Amino acid sequence: MILSIESSCDDSSIAITEIATKKLIYHKKISQELEHSVYGGVVPELASRLHAEALPRILGECEPWFSQLKAIAVTNEPGLGVTLIEGVVMAKALSISLGIPVIPINHLKGHIYSLFIEQEALLPLTVLLVSGGHTQLIEVKSYSDMKTVATTMDDSYGESFDKVAKMMGLGYPGGPLIENMAQEGDPGRFAFTVPLWQSPLIAFSYSGLKNQVRLAVEANSVSVYPDIAAAFQKTATEHVIQKLKKYFKSTSPKRFAIVGGASANLYLRESVTKILAPYKAELLLSELKFCSDNAAMIGRAALEAYKLGEAKSYESIPINPRCKL
Ligand code: KG4
Ligand code: ZN
Repeated sequence: MILSIESSCDDSSIAITEIATKKLIYHKKISQELEHSVYGGVVPELASRLHAEALPRILGECEPWFSQLKAIAVTNEPGLGVTLIEGVVMAKALSISLGIPVIPINHLKGHIYSLFIEQEALLPLTVLLVSGGHTQLIEVKSYSDMKTVATTMDDSYGESFDKVAKMMGLGYPGGPLIENMAQEGDPGRFAFTVPLWQSPLIAFSYSGLKNQVRLAVEANSVSVYPDIAAAFQKTATEHVIQKLKKYFKSTSPKRFAIVGGASANLYLRESVTKILAPYKAELLLSELKFCSDNAAMIGRAALEAYKLGEAKSYESIPINPRCKL
C-alpha cells in the first residue's frame, strides 16, 4: 500500500491506496475553508499552522496499515511553500521511521489522476485543469508525457470566482457561492467583455474581467449582485469556451476531461458538453468529492510513479512552490 499526503493549499488530507488493486483503503480530508473565509482567501501562515494540527490527527487513524506500506507519496509541487513543507516533513519523518522511500508528486498530475481513482487510466486525453491556482489546457499522453498547451496570463478561473465573492463580501471559497448566487440572477443585465476575444492566442486571462466586475459591484446595490454574478460566470466561462473552440480547430478532441476544484461548476460542465457534441468526444469528469484538493488523487498518481521507479530516498525530495508540469 502507499500512504499519500496532500497539503499544497488549504486542505489537509491523507489516503491509503492498495498498489495491486488501486483500491482506496482509507481517505480523509480536513478542509480549512471556514478558518480562511473571514479573510476572503487563504492566509498561508494560518494554513500552515492548521496543517500542523490536522495532519498528525489524521495520520493517527492510519497506524493499523503502517506495516503494509511500501512508500509514502507527498505533494511537493506546486503550491504554497509554507504548507507544502508540512506534508513533505511528515513524509520524510514517516520514511525514516518506517524505512520506506518517498514518492514526490506534482499536484497537477494528482488532479489529472483524480479521474481514475480505483480505475485504469484512459489515455491519451486532453485536460482542462481549472482550480484556484491554475487554468491550463494539457495534452496527456502518459504519466510522464504531459504537455501544457495553454495557460493563464494572470489569475486562474477559480481564483476569479474567489475574488468576485470577496468583492461582494460573500466569503471563501467563492466558486460555489458565486455559482449559487448566479442561479438567481439575469446573466443578460451586464455585458462584460469576454477576455482576449479578439486575440488569436490560445491563452487565458481573468484580471480584466475582474476589474469590470469590480466597477459593477461598486456602482450597484446588493440586490443587483445576483445579476452581476450570473453575468460574470457567463463571461468567465465563455472565455474558456472560445479558446477551446479555437484549440479544437487544429486538434479535434476524441477524449476530453475537466479537472480541479472549479470543475465542479455545473455551468462550465454544461457549456463544455455542448461544444464537444459535434466531435462525439467523450467527456471525463472526476467524482465531485475528488474535484477539489485531496490525497486520494495524490495516491492514485503515486501508483503510476511507483511503477516508473520514482520512489526516492527522503533526502532527495525538493519543495518547488512554483513548479509547472
Ligand atoms: O483544486 P482546488 O481545490 O485547489 C487548488 O488546487 O487551487 O480548487 C479550488 C478552487 C477555488 O478557487 C474555488 O473557488 C474553485 O476551485 N471552485 C469553483 C467551484 N467550486 C470550487 N469555482 C467555480 N465554480 C465552482 N462550483
Ligand atoms: Zn488543486
